Order: sequence, then structure tokens, then C-alpha cells
Amino acid sequence: MAVQINPSILSADFSRLAEEARAVEGADWLHVDVMDNHFVPNLTLGVPVVESLVRATDTPLDCHLMIEDADRWAPQYVEAGAGSVTFHAEAAAAPVRLAREIRAMGARASMALKPATPIEPYEDLLPELDMLLIMTVEPGFGGQAFLDIMLPKIRRTRELISKHGLELWLQVDGGVSASTIERCAEAGADVFVAGSAVYGASDPSQAVRALRTQARE
Ligand code: DX5
Ligand code: ZN
Repeated sequence: MAVQINPSILSADFSRLAEEARAVEGADWLHVDVMDNHFVPNLTLGVPVVESLVRATDTPLDCHLMIEDADRWAPQYVEAGAGSVTFHAEAAAAPVRLAREIRAMGARASMALKPATPIEPYEDLLPELDMLLIMTVEPGFGGQAFLDIMLPKIRRTRELISKHGLELWLQVDGGVSASTIERCAEAGADVFVAGSAVYGASDPSQAVRALRTQARE
């Protein structure tokens, strides 16, 4: 399984976004957390900032939309240039239609589950997705402690992916660090979002390399 490390710019210095985006050379994707103050109790950035980030870095953007009414807004992030767009299952009225629309527009379609949302009701939807994101903290803020109780959900999801012979990536987001990444990888995750563990390090690129090595072990 190929390991991917996606630094989250939520933990970067927002007054120097372009520079911070380029400080993680060697990352697979740049994870961009979009929050609307409704779906989660925090507000970050929107389409114009995503457009600027696309121009600022060669690293493709992995946009994680923590916003209500995802059916309406997600396509705009594809148009803005995101290579992967993740909507929340809890915020999409028609997830199959939305995933198909994202794919038809040329991006990777991905769906996220909050910690309390089970995977089982979504089993039949997996073939419509390029990635599934299992939140390992309550979405809204960086720097929270990893929820170990999510490990069985990661394991079950990996089993479903194998059972159906699917190619989709399994991403984890929240509290991923040097001390938790091995547990996530062992449970079956292959795409790792890390905010504070990368941007809180003195050398973010080195932190990406170290996480990659640990996830492979
Ligand atoms: C939280 C965001 C995460 C956040 C992760 O709602 O979705 O992407 O940036 O930050 P860390 O890695 O610090 O938990
Ligand atoms: Zn995120």
C-alpha cells in the first residue's frame, strides 16, 4: 500500500500561506480545511484562497469541506482547482450524485465521516468514491488528541474496501503524529493528514519524511 502524507495548512501561519504551502516539499497533497462556522464551530477560508493556493504551489490540493450544504458548494472547489474534494456525509443531501459530479468535473471525489457516523450505511456508496476520510477527532480544530476508539472503524472500513476489491484511498485526519501514525497504518489507513505534527515542527519537510517512514514500518 502506498503511503501518502498530507500536511494540513490549518496549523500554518495564515499570514504567510504561500510560503507555508511551499515549506512542505515532498508532501503528496496539501490538505486545506474549509470551515463555515455552521457545520463546525470555526471559520477558515473559502474559494478565493483556494484559487490563490493553487497558483502558489505545485503540490495538489486536498480540500476538506467542513461546510453545510455540500451539494451546492463542493463543485466550486473543483472549479477553483482542487485535485481532490472531500464533503461530509452528514452535510450532503445526495452523496452519490455529488460524488459523480465531482468526478465528472475532473477531481477525485471523497467523503468524510465524523467520529460518531458509522461506515456501514455507506457500504454501497464506496465504489462512487476515490477516497474515504475517517475523522479521528471531532472536526473543527487542529491540535486535538487522537481518538483511539476510531481504530476499529478504520479496520472495518479497510475490510469493506478489500471485500469489494476497490482502489479507494483511506484517509485519517486528526491527531495524527509520530506517536499515533503507526496505529493508523496498522489498522489500514494509507493517507495521513497531519497539521500540528508538521507545521509545529522546526523543519516541516523533515517532519513529512519522518511520518512517511513511520507509516511504512
Ligand atoms: C480538523 C481538521 C484537521 C486538522 C488536523 O477539523 O480537519 O485537518 O488540521 O490537525 P492536527 O493534525 O493538528 O490534529
Ligand atoms: Zn481536515
